[in-house]
Amino acid sequence: MAEGPILKLVKSDDAAVALPSGGSRPPSRTRRITPRARRILSVGGGKGGIGKSLISANLAIALARRGQRVVLVDADLGGANLHTTLGLDLPRRTLSDFIDRKVERLEDVVSPTGIPNLGLVSGALDNLEAATPKHAQKMRLLRHIQAMDVDYAILDLGAGTHTNVLDFFLVSDHGVLVLVPEPTAVENAYRFVKAAFWRRVRNVSQVFGYEELLHDIMQGASFRSPVELVATVVERDPEAGANLANHLAAFRPRLVVNQVRTAQDAEMGHAVVAAWRKYFGLEMDYLGAIDYDDEMWRAVRVRRPLLLDRPGAAAALGFERIADRLIAADESGRAADRA
Ligand SMILES: Nc1ncnc2c1ncn2[C@@H]1O[C@H](COP(=O)(O)OP(=O)(O)OP(=O)(O)O)[C@@H](O)[C@H]1O
Ligand SMILES: [Mg+2]
Repeated sequence: MAEGPILKLVKSDDAAVALPSGGSRPPSRTRRITPRARRILSVGGGKGGIGKSLISANLAIALARRGQRVVLVDADLGGANLHTTLGLDLPRRTLSDFIDRKVERLEDVVSPTGIPNLGLVSGALDNLEAATPKHAQKMRLLRHIQAMDVDYAILDLGAGTHTNVLDFFLVSDHGVLVLVPEPTAVENAYRFVKAAFWRRVRNVSQVFGYEELLHDIMQGASFRSPVELVATVVERDPEAGANLANHLAAFRPRLVVNQVRTAQDAEMGHAVVAAWRKYFGLEMDYLGAIDYDDEMWRAVRVRRPLLLDRPGAAAALGFERIADRLIAADESGRAADRA
């Protein structure tokens, strides 16, 4: 995930991968697109039914109400339902029309939500092709998301660790990892974030032509952590090792613990960040917790977003805190970029 706003789109031999900034530039075939979406935030977590869609929708509303221009994208390609979360009927135009090239621009499928500053790209329903887009279709979608003229593009991801899900997560400035405080969900979250990490290693090595080097190094060896892997690359090729380390350091998921019932549940966020650092040698930021709140599922039943229906509810306050943290982090990031 990028720490800066510039995103590069790079075409490699069998794959075009979007790499956020960080590290040196790839040798050739680099196509720069004009970045407009200032921040891409994706909400994933591996497990189904943990609140990814509700978090995407409510964070989008919280950011829009802070004056940010937001487009919410239903990137759960197999099970689109964000429009229902927002209380909308399925819009006339959806992602299917974009993926099938019935329209040229992603902007053509952005529908109003009735909430100022917030647009919605509805997911494709019953469209097999859109559920499993071909590589070129996925890259076109990622490119158009990057180029949207908004402050935040928020992507609601599907469950699982399919490469389609991982690639959306990896192209984001903020890859939000959702976790519920249950042992199986924690396992799933680690599996998801590890899969995303190794996909990033693969993407970086493809783009910079390190595949052979990594293949040699990994032959027969098993690395307990990325730190070990990078150290071995540095021994063999210091320049490649430094570049890989730079790109991998930018992989910094933002953790949200949802459905918190006790203070211990909320503490779990810190424990997960500490374990990630200890065993994987990588950083993760804890964005905050959202209470388990009966108002949340009630809002789902009446098809009204919680933030509009029950703005004072405990879970709603959790979304407001997280939105404030995101904006503060982005503003300090921009200030650092300017300095
Ligand atoms: N903080 C919460 N408090 C109470 N209930 C919650 C909370 N978060 C989520 N839920 C419940 O979990 C259900 C699933 O939420 P949601 O649809 O956002 O999950 P998801 O991760 O997007 O699922 P999928 O993987 O199927 O897309 C909601 O309908 C709601 O009933
Ligand atoms: Mg969902």
